[in-house]
Amino acid sequence: MQSLFESKNLENSEGLAQCQSLDDTEAAGRAIAAQLTFPSCVYLDGAMAAGKTTLAKSIIHGLGYVGDVTSPTYNLVQEYPVRGGTVYHMDLYRLEAPEELEFLALDDLWGEQSIFLVEWSERGVGWLPPATHRVEIELPLDAPSTYRNIVFKTGASLKT
Ligand SMILES: Nc1ncnc2c1ncn2[C@@H]1O[C@H](COP(=O)(O)OP(=O)(O)OP(=O)(O)O)[C@@H](O)[C@H]1O
Ligand SMILES: [Mg+2]
Repeated sequence: MQSLFESKNLENSEGLAQCQSLDDTEAAGRAIAAQLTFPSCVYLDGAMAAGKTTLAKSIIHGLGYVGDVTSPTYNLVQEYPVRGGTVYHMDLYRLEAPEELEFLALDDLWGEQSIFLVEWSERGVGWLPPATHRVEIELPLDAPSTYRNIVFKTGASLKT
């Protein structure tokens, strides 16, 4: 795997990890965790089964949570205490309208000691904090089934 998340100039930058395997994705997740500060709102983008939850698990473990991380598909949000704060892992796939997020009271969850990791963020438009980071995961058409490109964006590169 190319190590690209260690960029000294990550304020405004973008990194790519070319992951050949689950182990590489695990390493990419830990590298992303090392770049996150409180508060951060990370949108995890990618098609169904791209690997968003798999990557989120590694980020959460990289932030210091020891224990099982389960997909928040059914309850929309799962909460994990980590060093220095709390991670809220969300999967908004099942939302039918962004207004349904009112019931989660995200304003109460979002604060100086919060990290949001959000799958299917486009379904929560208008109700989520703006992204401080974005991760795009893709499996190129002709690549082996365990291959993933993981692009990590922050700062000015969020707009591209
Ligand atoms: N290099 C890899 N990185 C991530 N996932 C991989 C990789 N290779 C294989 N996989 C597999 O791809 C699947 C990814 O599933 P995962 O639930 O993480 O996707 P998702 O993007 O969260 O999907 P959904 O949109 O349904 O929430 C898992 O079964 C995982 O084992
Ligand atoms: Mg998922």
